[in-house]
Amino acid sequence: RQVECFDFVIFGGTGDLSMRKLLPSLFQRDLAGQIPAGARIIGVSRSPLNAAAFRAMADEQARPHLHGTPDPAAWAAFLTRLEHVRLDALSEDGWPVLADLLAPAPERIRAYYLATAPGLFGIICQRLHQAGLVTPQARVVLEKPLGHDLASARAINAAVGAVFAEHQIFRIDHYLGKETVQNLLALRFANSLFEPLWNARHIDHVQISVAETVGVEKRGEFYDQTGALRDMVQNHLLQLLCLVAMEPPSHMTQDAVRDEKLKILRALRPISAAELAQVTVRGQYRPGAIDGQAVDGYVEDLGHDTSETETFVALKAEVCNWRWAGVPFYLRTGKRLARRTSEIIIQFRPPPHNIFPADSGPVQPNRLVVRLQPDEGITLHLMGKDPGPGGLRLRPAPLNLSFAETYGTHYPDAYERLLLDVVRGNSTLFMRRDEVEAAWQWAEPVLTGWAATHQPVRPYAAGTWGPSAAVALIERDGRTWQDDDGL
Ligand code: BG6
Repeated sequence: RQVECFDFVIFGGTGDLSMRKLLPSLFQRDLAGQIPAGARIIGVSRSPLNAAAFRAMADEQARPHLHGTPDPAAWAAFLTRLEHVRLDALSEDGWPVLADLLAPAPERIRAYYLATAPGLFGIICQRLHQAGLVTPQARVVLEKPLGHDLASARAINAAVGAVFAEHQIFRIDHYLGKETVQNLLALRFANSLFEPLWNARHIDHVQISVAETVGVEKRGEFYDQTGALRDMVQNHLLQLLCLVAMEPPSHMTQDAVRDEKLKILRALRPISAAELAQVTVRGQYRPGAIDGQAVDGYVEDLGHDTSETETFVALKAEVCNWRWAGVPFYLRTGKRLARRTSEIIIQFRPPPHNIFPADSGPVQPNRLVVRLQPDEGITLHLMGKDPGPGGLRLRPAPLNLSFAETYGTHYPDAYERLLLDVVRGNSTLFMRRDEVEAAWQWAEPVLTGWAATHQPVRPYAAGTWGPSAAVALIERDGRTWQDDDGL
């Protein structure tokens, strides 16, 4: 269905995110007929570009990121929606130009997308306010990272909240826009099969792995001040944990869902400095090979001599409530790992009593694997009988559901869904202020504890599954990371 007409203003309009994700996603939705005639996309940046030059830039830099080969006429039509305003957030100049451009449609939905350094969020909001651009129909989208610790996140929330009401603020975590992440909600709450088993009585532990093969790419400067805990764990992995662990909301509305996620964040057991070495591992990639290609290590990618920043984290989290008491949630994420894969593994407990003789082979506990990317789907690992007349031997059998095969469709990029949700004013899949702060409240002591106790950054060769200490972390509990490679 078409959304209402809108003006989409991208601060950082010429940047990487805009070219790689935002413009291609909006185009994809335009192709699907969801964007009304007259809707405009206004890139804002410090570059002296007119509309024609901005369109040419998008043609060069955003087109390679489109899905498949676009119809040239449709792409050309999309480009005509693009405008550009030259403006420096730190100066007064340019704002009247933006105001003039928006003035003819004062009632229109306005989405201000802040794809800039978070240090600019407050000042941009203030200037939008001073320029009279914060209309009742306006909303603001904040890209992560939302601060680098609790205090800075609170300061950003306060500055943005001084100008926009909470229902106008969309804090984006693009993992929530991924189809398979939303599918987790469908799996848990549109089936009656899993919910009775979804607790400490039946689940042994949960693993959440987000493995990337890419390195830090061109973001070295930003990444080196950020690290994997802030970049991935504080947001994406904790959001996944919340969706796995939360109680069923009473309805699928924005506050009902977010209230339940918040309860999980608040139930996370704080990790004390004394136990950091036991339950967390930091790693950093060294030179190695990805898909047979030699690749540099992190410091070479950065162009520095040394760095103490982690590009890999593994940790054990616990949710202290009745449902999850005693069930560890093992999280790990890293760059330059062996394979690109994001998976949630629910490991059930073994049957309470084994009736089979020893020569039937071991009974492996059931495992539900939710594959977020690539090759989205669900696999339920069951035990079956090895076919044949030769006695009763047990054999694991996967029940495999590939979403692409079952639904026969291409999955839209996470941003496609989320950008139109902004226009629709639906913030279910965005983080509320208290959620972001609760996530920082849990993550910050890990960061400060690492610094205070000088936790080492353990090296791992690019193309492996991270430092061996990460394997030891889970094996100490008598468990193993589950990957196809058997690690
Ligand atoms: C971003 C991180 O939020 O997510 C990046 O800043 C990371 O470092 C990216 O590469 C991963 O997203 P996806 O959708 O490719 O899994």
